[in-house]
Amino acid sequence: MEETKKRSTFSGKLGFVLAAAGSAVGLGNLWRFPYLAAKYGGGIFLLVYVLLAVTFGFALMVAEIAIGRKTGLSVVGAYKKLNKKWAFVGYISAAVPIIILPYYSVIGGWVTKYIGTYVSGQGTAAANADYFSNFISGTWQPIIWFGIFVLATALIVIFGVEKGVERVSKVMMPILVVLTIGIAVYVITRPGASEGLKYYLVPDFSQLTSKTFLAAIGQLFYSLSLAMGIMVTYGSYMKKDVNIENSVFQIEMFDSGFALLAGLMIVPGVAVFSGVEDLNASGPGLMFQVLPQVFDNMPGGHVIGGLFFVLVLFAALTSSISLMETVVSIFQDKVKLPRRVIVILVTIGTFLIGLLSSLGFGVLSFIEPLGEGTSLLDFFDFISNSVIMPIVALLTSIFVGYVVKTKLVSDEVKLSSKFHFEKMFVVMIKYIAPIGLVLILVSSVLNTLGIVTI
Ligand code: PHE
Repeated sequence: MEETKKRSTFSGKLGFVLAAAGSAVGLGNLWRFPYLAAKYGGGIFLLVYVLLAVTFGFALMVAEIAIGRKTGLSVVGAYKKLNKKWAFVGYISAAVPIIILPYYSVIGGWVTKYIGTYVSGQGTAAANADYFSNFISGTWQPIIWFGIFVLATALIVIFGVEKGVERVSKVMMPILVVLTIGIAVYVITRPGASEGLKYYLVPDFSQLTSKTFLAAIGQLFYSLSLAMGIMVTYGSYMKKDVNIENSVFQIEMFDSGFALLAGLMIVPGVAVFSGVEDLNASGPGLMFQVLPQVFDNMPGGHVIGGLFFVLVLFAALTSSISLMETVVSIFQDKVKLPRRVIVILVTIGTFLIGLLSSLGFGVLSFIEPLGEGTSLLDFFDFISNSVIMPIVALLTSIFVGYVVKTKLVSDEVKLSSKFHFEKMFVVMIKYIAPIGLVLILVSSVLNTLGIVTI
């Protein structure tokens, strides 16, 4: 039943890096990173994030890609092949994209709505403080835009035009980067920006808690599409002569670099338009509240705003496609139905589950699963990023460190190149990652239960 047929492969290193970057770069960088950085103390979050990215993120990504390439299988099959007893890790990883895709599409719907806003000339209205909250607290508006986004993702997957979308996004991504730099420069040269800039870039150690680590590690997994089996699958398509270590560096540099840049445009923007005191209270709406104010002040801002959201939509689509394909392939391995039927069922399921997140800001806003002021979307986001993904990462490091042994990964990496950071990789996977993850998980559970507050 495992796929024994020849798998198609990425054409060389560039093909691999671009495909993985397409999955990695998305709303995680633009929407999620900036609001977390703002909420968790700015500079200190940045510092923790970067440190974790170059150590832990690097080690886990190398491990996942190597496991995929070694076995030539997607996540469940890969673990099963290496050790039957550990197949359950594959199943747990599979839960992650199933939880993320629905609420990711809700945010994708918000992006689509803002394209509509600018195209219909409502840029000034969007800069109004109530515009965003009025929109998300409605019933039909958010559902319709969310539905459009899910449908677009599904159509791309059904008609197999991912290649076309990827080709377009290869042109769009660089434009998005340039535009983001331009907007960031505009924002940080406004009066009042320096305070926001300082908040964003200078670490304040008094804001360092275990929550900073949990938030940073969850964001790292989310942004790099780690701890959910996606990179295992991507690795299974990678040719044996492609340099794994180098590819991981490039993906990480691009992904983290872009997240930092997005933060540079959004976090100081808060200081300019509403004052630094608001930063700690930032939530998932941050990007949609700050950027319209920026665009409304910028010369030509309404046109730039429209263009910006179109580009963001493409970045979001390349990620949602990769999420949906992962979910579809999980079910394809289990049920014998034609692929199209599975895509349709997954789409319907995604829509139904996503309704909860969408309505969670309106008629279901009385449900505050994680305490006052939190929404259903926060809940799905928390369960996947701060609970399941750290558990998957913990199990992966134990599996690689003690069950199949790190040599399996090292040997796979060395098939195509030297493994420069092998020592760090081994120390991370065997000791630091498991211990660190257990500490983070335990303290977050204790925190959530209110037993300790560190
Ligand atoms: N990494 C993507 C982003 O940053 C989100 C994503 C998560 C994509 C999981 C695929 C899988 O937006």
